[in-house]
Amino acid sequence: MDTSRLPWATGSFPLMLAPMQGVTNRIVRNYFVEQVRPDVLFTEFVRVSGVDPARIPRRDRAELAASEGGVPLVVQLIGRGVKELSEAAVMVVNAGVQHLNLNLGCPYGRTASGCTGGNTLRTPEVLPDILAALRAAIPGSFSVKIRAGYDNPRQIFSLLPLFEQSAIDFLILHPRTVLQQYKGHADHTLTAEVVRATSLPVIANGDIVSATQGLRLREEARPAGLMLGRGAIADPRLFARLRQNETATPTMVERQQGLARMLTALAPDYRTTFCGDAQVLGKLKALLSCVESDALSAMTKPLKRAKRLDTFLDFLNKFQ
Ligand SMILES: Cc1cc2nc3c(=O)[nH]c(=O)nc-3n(C[C@H](O)[C@H](O)[C@H](O)COP(=O)(O)O)c2cc1C
Repeated sequence: MDTSRLPWATGSFPLMLAPMQGVTNRIVRNYFVEQVRPDVLFTEFVRVSGVDPARIPRRDRAELAASEGGVPLVVQLIGRGVKELSEAAVMVVNAGVQHLNLNLGCPYGRTASGCTGGNTLRTPEVLPDILAALRAAIPGSFSVKIRAGYDNPRQIFSLLPLFEQSAIDFLILHPRTVLQQYKGHADHTLTAEVVRATSLPVIANGDIVSATQGLRLREEARPAGLMLGRGAIADPRLFARLRQNETATPTMVERQQGLARMLTALAPDYRTTFCGDAQVLGKLKALLSCVESDALSAMTKPLKRAKRLDTFLDFLNKFQ
């Protein structure tokens, strides 16, 4: 395997910020780069068009880059069809992208109703041609982000030989099924099994919400790295805690402060990017949908109920 293509330094243990549609936009990614500098960033999924010959929607083209703030950026595609996906890959590579990821996990809506995202796992026979075409189109790293299976959490094991033969560079595993959506818990005993079963680097993802738990997962499953999603939004310092640069167990006040500071810091850039207070408020609330911690509900419940941006921001002030 050619490790020089990987978006992290050989021998290091990368902590990645997960792609989250409607949440990890460029402004949020910049905030994370400034505050905790994840080792690898991902775009939200970029939908590959079946009709537009340019394949990549105009609004997403501004996202196409090899890095942001010096941190490697992986562009994630979601779509169907060998021709459509490979044309999209050529297009993004020509735009300067180095790292490309294919979404094989998304369980929702339009993305799951066609043969895209997690739904692709219902017809895995389409995968060899798609993976071969994408691999041929991408000189840099090519990775796959996948659920454990469509309805069977052991489906992943039938796909590992294909991923290896297709010369993908790494695999990000969220060990739930597509049908499970976000119910139950991410079963990282499965991650450990997958790590043992493949020669590919496996990045563990799913339900990592504390440093103690993330470090235990590292120890027990031996993944090549971790990817943080909702846990990083709820506690933006989680990257620093996992690197053991900060306390592993923040107090409630510290957690409230961390969340309040992030939302407050995002507001000015959201105001210049999004259209009007109502949209800015909606976009800020989208981050709160990732915060599941009951412990923070005294803060998040009133914020989710706020009808106006100024009351939302005033309320945040109390926590800083
Ligand atoms: C609001 C939201 C949007 C998401 N959007 C994407 C996406 O664009 N691409 C993707 O691969 N996964 C997406 N995911 C899944 C996350 O990347 C991640 O795999 C999942 O949330 C499990 O990790 P976590 O428990 O650390 O959040 C999304 C998840 C959430 C909650």
